[in-house]
Amino acid sequence: MQSNLRNIHIAIIMDGNGRWAQKRNLPRFKGHSAGVSTLRTIIQCCPEFQISTLTLYAFSSDNWKRPQTEISHLMDLIRLYLSSETDCFLENNIRFKAIGRRDRLPEDIVKLIEKVEHDTQCGEQLTLRVAIDYSSRYEILQAAKNILDNSNDSHSALSKSLSGVEKECDVDLLIRTSGEKRLSDFLLWECAYSELYFTNIDWPDFTSKDLRDAVEDFRSRDRRFGSLEAETKLPPVVMNADGNNKNYKIAGVK
Ligand code: FPP
Repeated sequence: MQSNLRNIHIAIIMDGNGRWAQKRNLPRFKGHSAGVSTLRTIIQCCPEFQISTLTLYAFSSDNWKRPQTEISHLMDLIRLYLSSETDCFLENNIRFKAIGRRDRLPEDIVKLIEKVEHDTQCGEQLTLRVAIDYSSRYEILQAAKNILDNSNDSHSALSKSLSGVEKECDVDLLIRTSGEKRLSDFLLWECAYSELYFTNIDWPDFTSKDLRDAVEDFRSRDRRFGSLEAETKLPPVVMNADGNNKNYKIAGVK
């Protein structure tokens, strides 16, 4: 159950896009667009902060309840993101993986997901998992159905089935922005022993320095996983003052 503090898995609920926009008298979709810029910045910092897996909550299954115009904007952003990032993923050795349902997504988005997953499957620096039409309860139910008949080690099989990867995918640190303190049906199984970090900052305003604060806070915590012994702490990671990753390659820029 112990995690490797050198390579941590961070999950982020990117909340507060709508409020960020409303505070500026902008339509809500402007907040989501600004949120995409933030996620690009945060992905760049991952190697420097020794994050090997990053899972982002882009669209929950409950988000289908939003007005159709907002759903369309979010789908357009996801479409644009998937069609523009592959070079960047390849140059930075990033493996992309989508989690969540695919049977209700527009067909072209499913095809894009499959293509980006295929093209980036050898990425080893960072596994970027984006949750789209995702509900943790639904995933748990599906995984349970899948393993019910044919598995001796149901804990491990369930975990693998949920993560959609060959190995188990426990989250070390869950971050939620914008002041809300809920899990909202996100990675309920994988967050069983996660450290939780809540910040009042709206997602579009979240910077590399804020990520550094969250990671430093995480590294200062005692993790006992139910035992009396805390996991060995490593010295804090040495990070650039601005948190920018000088080695990150912007696609097309030499
Ligand atoms: C929560 O803010 C955020 C979302 C529902 C969507 C997050 C999506 C993105 C950042 C962009 C799309 C993602 C990718 C990977 C291209 P909210 O709208 O609930 O904010 P509010 O609580 O202030 O209304």
